Amino acid sequence: MSPTRAVVTGGAGFVGSHLVERLIGRGDEVTVFDSGPVPHDQRLSREHARHVEGDIRDPARLAEAITRGVDVVYHLAAVVGVDQYLARPLDVIDINFLGTRNVLEQALRVGARVVVASTSEVFGKNPAVPWSEDADRVLGPTSADRWTYSSAKALTEHLTLAFGRQHGLEATIVRYFNAYGPRQRPAFMLSRSIHRALNGRPAVLYDKGEQTRCFTFVDDAIEGTLLAAFHPAAGGETFNVGSMVETTMGDAARLVATLTETDLAGVAVDTRAALGSAYEDVPRRIPDNSKARRILNWECRTSLREGLTRTIAWARANPWWLAHPDNGAALPLDAATR
Ligand SMILES: NC(=O)c1ccc[n+]([C@@H]2O[C@H](COP(=O)([O-])OP(=O)(O)OC[C@H]3O[C@@H](n4cnc5c(N)ncnc54)[C@H](O)[C@@H]3O)[C@@H](O)[C@H]2O)c1
Repeated sequence: MSPTRAVVTGGAGFVGSHLVERLIGRGDEVTVFDSGPVPHDQRLSREHARHVEGDIRDPARLAEAITRGVDVVYHLAAVVGVDQYLARPLDVIDINFLGTRNVLEQALRVGARVVVASTSEVFGKNPAVPWSEDADRVLGPTSADRWTYSSAKALTEHLTLAFGRQHGLEATIVRYFNAYGPRQRPAFMLSRSIHRALNGRPAVLYDKGEQTRCFTFVDDAIEGTLLAAFHPAAGGETFNVGSMVETTMGDAARLVATLTETDLAGVAVDTRAALGSAYEDVPRRIPDNSKARRILNWECRTSLREGLTRTIAWARANPWWLAHPDNGAALPLDAATR
């Protein structure tokens, strides 16, 4: 993988910032395109990347970042998090659909290949786990805002594949499964549990904590993304980039308590009572990641214990993150998904 010119949309966000650091580390020339500024703790990015602040719905602004000579566009910009899907469903749809269309069009114009970040959410609540890349999508009604993200991301996948078929754009889709690690907003199951534990507050458990997830450390997700960007057979393909180790939310919360050496009884939230029909949980979420292992030679290397230990050490060393407001205070429901 020789050095390239790369653009990372959403490069100031959680996954994007780690990707930017990896790319800079490999000697790539990196442009970060994001609607927000690059936070102060992203020192490498601030010192070594070019930054274009703008909205992916604005094609002219995007054209200032995705210029001729760019080799790869990593498209990660999106509205992420259940608290966000419930509060801003229109933005979730618009930014994913209109924004992704603009990114793909501009990449095609300048001859860049594209890696599009998608999500396990596209499978919805399909009970037939583990999900291969071609598994069915099983969703709830359109009256439940929580499915906007799944539907919008699925539409971006269709768009991506359609640009490949109709225009010959070389593009690959990577689906992340509950990525976690340093810098993640404390609005997701693990980040919020760590944040609460280190602030002396009990974990929040939704509906008894029996739902399962396959938590994937961010470095492993990044590795899969890079392999997908450079593998000669990856164009036009979709890959599940997620751990296959299934863990209940309750067990994950207990592991966080052990590793943070906190002994706080969890707070139980009945999601039906708290949110009514706007929300619906996914009971089990497990990828079949054999395609990524077979074609990309990708492996999920980091155990949950190791990834959490590294994330907790980072959190302890970053008091600004611990002082971040706990997003769950505004909405009780951010733990259950992705
Ligand atoms: N973190 C996960 O577990 C996970 C799981 C599945 C999929 N994904 C996907 O990975 C990508 C990155 O997720 P993340 O967890 O880093 O989220 P994040 O919220 O930390 O980062 C998203 C970034 O996109 C930017 N952004 C939002 N709207 C924009 C717009 N209109 N124009 C330009 N930039 C905009 C935000 O400012 C933010 O920096 C997303 O596409 C998400 O759907 C993440």
